[in-house]
Amino acid sequence: MAIIELEGKSYPCEENETVLDCLTRHGVQVPSSCRAGVCQSCMMRAEQGEIPKAAQVGLKPTRVTQGYFLACSCKPQDDLRIRFPDAEGLRMGARVVGKELLSHDIVAVRLVPDKPMDYRAGQFIRLFRDGGLSRCYSLASVPVLDEWLELHVRHVPGGQVSGWVHGDLSPGDSVQIADSSGHCFYVPDQQDRAMLLVGTGSGLAPLYGIVRDALHQGHWGPVWLYHGSHGSKGLYRVDELHELERQFANFHYVPCVSHEKPSNGMRQGMVLDVVAGDHESLDGWQAFLCGHPDMVTLGKTQLFLSGVSLSEIYADPFVAS
Ligand SMILES: Cc1cc2nc3c(=O)[nH]c(=O)nc-3n(C[C@H](O)[C@H](O)[C@H](O)COP(=O)(O)OP(=O)(O)OC[C@H]3O[C@@H](n4cnc5c(N)ncnc54)[C@H](O)[C@@H]3O)c2cc1C
Ligand code: FES
Repeated sequence: MAIIELEGKSYPCEENETVLDCLTRHGVQVPSSCRAGVCQSCMMRAEQGEIPKAAQVGLKPTRVTQGYFLACSCKPQDDLRIRFPDAEGLRMGARVVGKELLSHDIVAVRLVPDKPMDYRAGQFIRLFRDGGLSRCYSLASVPVLDEWLELHVRHVPGGQVSGWVHGDLSPGDSVQIADSSGHCFYVPDQQDRAMLLVGTGSGLAPLYGIVRDALHQGHWGPVWLYHGSHGSKGLYRVDELHELERQFANFHYVPCVSHEKPSNGMRQGMVLDVVAGDHESLDGWQAFLCGHPDMVTLGKTQLFLSGVSLSEIYADPFVAS
């Protein structure tokens, strides 16, 4: 049985128990959200002891070397001495410089951080409401193209943070954010490779960033972006994406509606069905899947069966807290 030491107290961790479950069971409050190794709200830092590799998936290499890990994915084999990371300034201030309605339930929020932030288009940041409650939002902006960070936030009915963003947050406001994380971003290592990007709803946010980043960096292999929504009022940045199609011959944008008669170049059907109809084999492709968790789970299986290697599928399910 591994012993976890935190702030001078020791907590015995059961066989197969995560650090998060162990600490919670002992009444220690640890920030957490998805409990699935996705949102990174449970990030802690080890001062002593060996961290299982699975607890550091998706963290920046600098964080890995500093001993950061995700408490919800960490099942320790050995004793650990750990600490909370907040005191070390993972958070920073940012100013809201713009807010724009993109669709009936999605707004773009533009933020300028108080200090330069190193990020890749498609990663996500955490946005804090009143310095406490936080949620993850993906970055639709591209560092070399945009002067701000851009988030696309869908209004979840009754949602504590998305409701606040839609109802209260205004240009000029100051907010707190946590530095960028995640592994959904473009790496220009094979610029002739075919890329497939599939998103639903505000899942377009990271894909919009990744596509613009890839094309800007000179990716010349085919790039297919599928954006799915119930109806046309849920699709957004349509004109901008068609304009990109005109600028880059290798880029193909496919807006899909599942519950409405399609118009203006849209396709009808569930987004993954439309992908399957267009591409029989995806052997050798790289794929990005973002948005509704069910779509992401289904998509991973479908793309794998169509030939995409699992290691080439990058996914951000927008799991609820
Ligand atoms: C890695 C990552 C990236 C993300 N990127 C984005 C992004 O770019 N844009 C974006 O809009 N969201 C994104 N999300 C989701 C976002 O973090 C929040 O979960 C979402 O905004 C809801 O938070 P809330 O505080 O408004 O709702 P909460 O107060 O947490 O939830 C209110 C109620 O709604 C339910 N609920 C929460 N989320 C959903 C949902 N998606 N569908 C249906 N019911 C729900 C809850 O179970 C609860 O009953 C991302 C999530 C992750 C993990
Ligand atoms: S709670 Fe651990 S990564 Fe989300």
